[in-house]
Order: sequence, then structure tokens, then C-alpha cells
Amino acid sequence: MSKRMAVVLAAGKGTRMKSSLYKVLHPVCGLPMVEHVIRAVKASQVEEIVTIIGHGAQQVKEVLGDASRYAMQEEQLGTGHAVLQAAELLADQEGQTLVICGDTPLFTAETLSELFAQHEARGAQATVLTAILADATGYGRIVRSAQDDVERIVEHKDATEEQRQIKEINTGTFVFDNQALFKALAKVTNQNAQGEYYLTDVIELIKADGGLVGAHVMADHLESLGVNDRRALSQANQIMSRRINQAHMVAGVSFMNPDTVYIETDVTIGPDTVIENGVLLKGKTSIGSSCYIGANTEIVDSQIADQVKITQSVIESSTVAEGATVGPFAHLRPKSYLGKDVHIGNFVEVKNSTIGQGTKSGHLTYIGDADLGEGINIGCGTIFVNYDGKRKFRSKVGDQAFIGCNANIVSPVEIGQRAFIAAGATITNDVPDEALAISRVEQSNISNYWQKFLNK
Ligand code: UD1
Ligand code: CA
Repeated sequence: MSKRMAVVLAAGKGTRMKSSLYKVLHPVCGLPMVEHVIRAVKASQVEEIVTIIGHGAQQVKEVLGDASRYAMQEEQLGTGHAVLQAAELLADQEGQTLVICGDTPLFTAETLSELFAQHEARGAQATVLTAILADATGYGRIVRSAQDDVERIVEHKDATEEQRQIKEINTGTFVFDNQALFKALAKVTNQNAQGEYYLTDVIELIKADGGLVGAHVMADHLESLGVNDRRALSQANQIMSRRINQAHMVAGVSFMNPDTVYIETDVTIGPDTVIENGVLLKGKTSIGSSCYIGANTEIVDSQIADQVKITQSVIESSTVAEGATVGPFAHLRPKSYLGKDVHIGNFVEVKNSTIGQGTKSGHLTYIGDADLGEGINIGCGTIFVNYDGKRKFRSKVGDQAFIGCNANIVSPVEIGQRAFIAAGATITNDVPDEALAISRVEQSNISNYWQKFLNK
């Protein structure tokens, strides 16, 4: 196998997106489109990638980092002109070069590998990846000879009425013999309907030079979807989302109705986990095996261990250990760590806190900036008062402490092991191990108050 290289076209602005974000940076299932492209290209054994950047060059570089080298296209004069910008980095090399657009996020490594393999097997100078579409409007058309050989590609705007009837289109993805490509590119002109230097013109030029030009028709044309506007973006998200969910199902994850579930590209899920409807799993999230993720749960950038049960809750940048239960209607804000078998129940919010094994907080509580030991019981309505209007403070609670309902723990305080906090207490001082802290006005009963009330 000769050396495989790739040129990724990503210099366009994407005017039809109507966005301040450059087109190729729009995310599909959590990853910028161009990153999907680079990943698929890398996985098809390409050794060297050059990305053509122009609009949003700095941002594209930041996203891709050293996954690619870069060539700047200052002015967008067409796809042919774009590829030509890679000449300095690639032109003298021997091997096969894939050209692909940064706005086609659905191509799989399998398809690109097939394209390379067919091109290499035939010893072709150019192989076009084509698709058959019911509605080919807007695409470049594949013009074939009577012997079915590819003659050339005609852009929609340059096509005759007759050519516009052709259903076979150029997906914008090609493999070229590298030197034949750059030799032909030097001869491309901009004498066409759009006044652009078309990459597609190299097909005819390579042919005229005696080169062998082939085509590979895609089995699943949806893979070639080019995202030019928000409608296509939502379509790409839908297709990618289905693909991701299918892969999880094949790997042993159960879904009630996968069409309602959104899982981003880099999320991992263990087998025998059940995902209910309306679940969103985003960013760098990992879910263990045999978990239950209840309806309408949203989990972002979090690590969930095995056998965790989450119902209707929101979890952000947090870690949940094995066997814990969360929800319904709980909110774990960033930097929450729940130990093994912890229970966080209805309307409990946790932030920047660690909660030790077996500790339970069942209802209506705020745990912010606290370190809780193991086996603690936190009564309903407890609040860790962590903020004085200017600064945040931390508190600590020892193992097996019992916090009565509606307590205010005014940070910073330390509550000892097996200490008791009476219901309704406001704790402003440390509580020693095994002590009971009460801080409330003693109850007094006024007799016969009903009569006094009537006489008022
Ligand atoms: C192109 C093809 C067309 C094909 C279609 C498939 C040409 C002339 N036409 O048309 O045959 O059917 O893709 O989607 O190649 N770009 C640059 N610099 C430029 C121009 C474009 O980097 O000067 C980049 C764009 O950012 C984009 C890609 O090249 O990622 C394709 O450009 P676009 O203008 O979308 O081409 P189409 O008109 O869709
Ligand atoms: Ca396009």
C-alpha cells in the first residue's frame, strides 16, 4: 500500500448557516463537524492530513490541534484553488490523496477505506465517490460515456437541461494519485458559471492526460450529506444520533425508544444499562453497566459507575460511585462526588461536595461546599449555608452523624462522628464527636388561646 494522505476543505464561511460560528465548527452530536471528518480520515489509515483553513482559521486550528497540518486559503476562489493551497506541503510526495469537505460529518472510515482500496486496486489516477439521489439539485453531476466510464463532472449551475436529469452526483470526496492531482490542478481555470476554480475540473484534465478515472458509488447516500444550512445540520444530528444509539444497542445497552434519546459521540455506556425516553448524555460522560437512567435525565461530563439508578435528574461534571441512587428531581452540580450506595433524593442539590459511602439525603436539601463522611443521615430541608454574600466556606461532617430536619449548617463548621444535630438547629460552632447540638428557642404553650383569639 502506498502512502495515504488527505486534504480537508474547511476554508468556507458557511453564509447559509446564518451564524457567528464558522460552518465546520458547528457540532454534530457534540463534536465539531470537521473533527468527525478528521477522525474518519485518520481511521482510514491516512498518515498525513492537511486542512485548508480560511474563515475562522484560528478557531479551526484550536479545535483540531496537531491532528492535522494546515494551509491557508486567504481568498475562497473555489474548491480547486483550495486544494492547490496544500501544494507546498504535499505536491512532491508520492502516494494517494483523499480530498474531502469539512462539512460532510457523516462519512465513516469504512466508506473512505473502501474508496482508497478500490482506487488502489484499479491503479486509477482519480476515483470519485458518487451517490445516486432522487433529487440531485445543486450537486455536481457525473457525466459518463456510453461505455459507462466517468468523463467529467458538471456543476449544477453549468449543466445543460439534459445533464440536470442525471441522478448520479459528486459527493465532493475523491482519491487521487497525488502527483496527477497537483499536475492537473495547475491547469484548472475559472471559466465557468461561478467564476471559481473547480476541483471537479481535474477529472477531465487527468483523463485528457491519459489517466484512469474511476467512480465508487456509495451504498448509503445519507453518509455523504453536506451541511450547508441548519436544516441539513439537524438532519446530520439525527442520522449521527441514530448511528450512535444503534452502536450502544449492539453493545448491550437497552433503550425504550431510542429516537427520543440524544447521546454524544464520546459517551461510553456499559452493558445491561437501561436508558428511558428523553435522556441526554453529553460530553465526556461514562456510564457503567447495569445502570438505570430514568426519563428526562441529563448527564454532562460525568462518570457514573456500575449499578447506579438515576431518575429524572441533572448531573454535571460529577462522579457517582457504584450502587448510588439519585433522584427523582435531584441536581448534582460540578465537582460533586457521591460514594458507594449514597442516596440523593427528591429536590436535593449538591455542589462541590464529597459524600461518603452509604450517606443518605432523601429530600429538599442543599449540600454545597461540604465533605460528608460515611453512613450519615441528612434530614429533610437541611441547608449547608456556604455563602456569606462575599465568600464561600466549607464544612465537614463525620461518619454516622445524624442531621435532623431543617438544620442550617453555617459554614465553616466541623461536625464530629456520630454527632446529632437537633431538628431546626442553626449550627455556627463545631460539634464534638457523639454530642447532641440543639440551638432553638424552648417551646412554650399558651393555654386557651382559641378563646383569646376569638375575643381579639
Ligand atoms: C461541491 C462540488 C460539487 C459536489 C458538492 C458536494 C465543486 C466545484 N463542486 O459543491 O460537485 O456535488 O461539493 O457537496 O467542487 N471550500 C474552500 N475554499 C473554497 C471553496 C470551498 O475551502 O474556495 C470548502 C468549503 O468550505 C466546503 C467545501 O469546500 O467545506 C465545498 O465547498 P462548497 O462551496 O460547499 O461546494 P458545493 O457548491 O457544495
Ligand atoms: Ca457544500
